[in-house]
Amino acid sequence: MSTSEKEIKVLLFGLGAIGGFYVFVLGRNENVSLSVVARSNYQQVKEHGLRIESQNHGDHKVNIDQVYKSPDEITSAFDYIVCTHKAVNPSKVPPILKPATNDNTTFVIIQNGVGNEEPFRTTFPNNTIISCVTWVGATQTSPGLIKHTKSEDMQMGLFPNPKLNSDLEQQRLNTFATLLATGQTIFQVEKDIQIKRWEKVVWNAAWNSITTLTDVNTQDWLASSPEAIPVTKHLMHEVIDIAIRCKVPLDHSLADGLVDKISAMPGIFSSMHTDMKEGRGLEVDVILGYPMRMAKELEMNVPVLSTIYALTTAVNGRLNKL
Ligand SMILES: *[C@@H]1O[C@H](CO)[C@@H](O)[C@H](O)[C@H]1NC(C)=O
Ligand SMILES: *[C@@H]1O[C@H](CO)[C@@H](O)[C@H](O)[C@H]1NC(C)=O
Repeated sequence: MSTSEKEIKVLLFGLGAIGGFYVFVLGRNENVSLSVVARSNYQQVKEHGLRIESQNHGDHKVNIDQVYKSPDEITSAFDYIVCTHKAVNPSKVPPILKPATNDNTTFVIIQNGVGNEEPFRTTFPNNTIISCVTWVGATQTSPGLIKHTKSEDMQMGLFPNPKLNSDLEQQRLNTFATLLATGQTIFQVEKDIQIKRWEKVVWNAAWNSITTLTDVNTQDWLASSPEAIPVTKHLMHEVIDIAIRCKVPLDHSLADGLVDKISAMPGIFSSMHTDMKEGRGLEVDVILGYPMRMAKELEMNVPVLSTIYALTTAVNGRLNKL
């Protein structure tokens, strides 16, 4: 076998802070041919490359073979397409990735939210999807420079495709796991990744939307009125109920656990709050919209989620007009 036959072709779409971190991890594999689609930081990354300063891994220049401005420029298929773009207008992205795919392409979705896999499955019904929940703390402090804190963890698992042989899907998952292991990042493979996705969405549905709507941090929110904690828990219980009705076995004790966890932390804002402050669109669809749609389909009564969803959607509409 020649070297080129052994190469695993990986494309990363969405070169923000999280994308930059995983490009760094994947770039540590000598048998990976690594391409990225970069948008706002395209010029900088194309000319000067990408750098990471990580409290866990040290300072490095990231190995990238090819930088594209748009998937339109791509003329051959990749083995893996890692999607780390922000999930705003989630159904817009899969169709634009078509030039980079064939039936052997596996999608790796590293995003907040739930329901993220569905637009990919609709556009690519014959492909494997690996779904991931990341806990990496990183920011892109200037175009092409990623600063990574000590927080680093990821859970991943298949979004099973009933049309495909499960051994083939498992093999694709294992190969990607090997790339992460060689890249020396921390992760676990889950049998049912939806449990992890929904657990994180219970957290995000509360803190992302509350910090965005109020513009106060979590500690100030909790202390703001006697209603703050009950309202927060009510919202969490509604999302947990929706998960359970969607056959994702969450436990209601999660709500108390998450409120205890945030109470023990210094006041924080959220990625959605940052997006609001910077005038960008919000990940409202995958964090609140999908649970809301499921609740409607299941004819569930979710007064707190409906209120938070309606208010956050109005803020998103304002931002999209800026
Ligand atoms: C997909 O992989 C199989 C097995 O390796 C191969 O036979 C087939 O030609 C590939 N399909 C495409 C579209 O490259
Ligand atoms: C999926 O595969 C089937 C054959 O199994 C084929 O007819 C169909 O066109 C493929 N769909 C796409 C979107 O590639």
